[in-house]
Order: sequence, then structure tokens, then C-alpha cells
Amino acid sequence: MTSAFRRDYKRNSAITDSETSTNTRLQVIFTDVLQSLLGIIRRHQVTWEEYRAATAWLTEAGAQGYEIPLMLDVFLSQTVDDVNFGAQGGTESNVEGPFYVPDAQLLERPYVLTQREGEAGERLMFSGTVSSTDGSPLAGAMVDVWQASAAGEYSNFHPTCPEGNLRGRFTTDDLGRFELETIVPPSYGIPDGGATAKLLAGLGRHLIRPGHIHFKLSHPTCRSLTTQIYFEGDPYIDADVVGAVKDSLIVGLVRSDDAATRCSYDFVLASRNEA
Ligand SMILES: [Fe+2]
Repeated sequence: MTSAFRRDYKRNSAITDSETSTNTRLQVIFTDVLQSLLGIIRRHQVTWEEYRAATAWLTEAGAQGYEIPLMLDVFLSQTVDDVNFGAQGGTESNVEGPFYVPDAQLLERPYVLTQREGEAGERLMFSGTVSSTDGSPLAGAMVDVWQASAAGEYSNFHPTCPEGNLRGRFTTDDLGRFELETIVPPSYGIPDGGATAKLLAGLGRHLIRPGHIHFKLSHPTCRSLTTQIYFEGDPYIDADVVGAVKDSLIVGLVRSDDAATRCSYDFVLASRNEA
């Protein structure tokens, strides 16, 4: 390591604020992580070849830009979400994922999620309510929605999907109700071809997430909620690559011959005074 590199590394590191500061929480957590890894090496008698394969994989992942955050999201993010929001009360939270974009278009009634002309996909009327854990309907709750297209692509990230597509914000009515027209999102794969996909292949695991719609809900009297809604019957509902599906977040789809498919979900936000 050159001295110039060492100086740049220190300047860019968020781990310590200065050369003399110590981050106690980092010390505690890193010590636990290290002890766990050392225990694994001893328990499995990790060989030099395996150790070098691991360092080569990390080098490859680091050179691929987004692969290390992707790998952490796949294996760790839902647990981070659980420990931060699991005891909040109300509707269960779920990971935000990498495709959220703030300040999506504000929709006007009747709410139709922003979409291109002739948007492909099965039409879906998603209705529901937003209330507080004390049972009060939340009028004017802000609902921020984003989802993949029928091709499994997110706008603002996939170049073939128009900016702002299948994203939007709207508010509930005086009784906390809403209805949104959109499409049924498909199951889709996380990025293929990178170090994370290679690791999953080595583990004998697929890359697919079941179809879902992302929601962020907020109201001045309650704690904000970030979650996802999944759909009964999705072939990957029990095999999410991210392991994020929760039974309480699965809804049934009601199909009919002469109208859009329907589903509903009643969101509950935790009151601010709850533990
Ligand atoms: Fe997603």
C-alpha cells in the first residue's frame, strides 16, 4: 500500500472521524464479526485454497461496483429491517430495496400509477385503507408507491423504462381509503452475471424475487412505514432470493372475465406514542 493510497483511504473512510478518534460501537461489532469468522475458519478447517478463493471473490465483487452492496442486500438487509422496525407495531415493515426514488409524481384522483401509453401487464385495481394502531382512519396519509414493469424493470434504473414509470404518490380520502390502478408486477431476477449471482449459483440458489409492490406510508400522527405487498400464488412466494416475504404482507388476487384484477390491503401505522 503506498503512502498516498493510505492517506486517501483515511480521508475517505467513514469509520473514523480523525486519526485519533475511536468508534466504540465499531469496536464491539467488529470484534463480534471477527470472532464469528475465526470460529467458522476453525470449525470448518478452512484451507488456504478456500481462503484465497474468498479473497479473489471479494476482489472481483469490489471491482464490479455495485456487487458488494447487492450481496449485502441479498443476505442481510431484511434482518437489519427487522431489528430496526420489527417491534414498531402496525403493518409489518419490509426492505426498501435499491430502487426507491424520492419525490415521485403526485397523482390526482382517480389514482392511476404513472405509466407509458399501452403499458404491458395485467390491469390491477389495488384498494385499501390506512389507519392508526388505535383504529382511527388516517385521512390524508401519504402513500408512495413504486414497482417493476411487466418486464421486471424499474424506471430510473433500467434504461428501457421511461423515467418515473410505475411510480407515484397519493393521499387517502377522509376515511383513510384509497384505490390505485396499476399492473400486477411480475417476479424478477436480481442482476445476473456478477459476483453475487456467481455466489448464489455456487450455493445452488436462484436469483428471483416474487412479484411485489413497494409502499412508503406516512402521516403526521404516526411513524412512517416502508413495506412491500406480495401476491398469493406467485411461484416464488416461498423462495424469495432476499428472504423478505412475510405472511402478513401477502394478498390474494381476485380475477374476473370482464374487469381488472382486484386486491386490497389495509395498512396500519404505529402511533408515535407506541414503544
Ligand atoms: Fe422491488
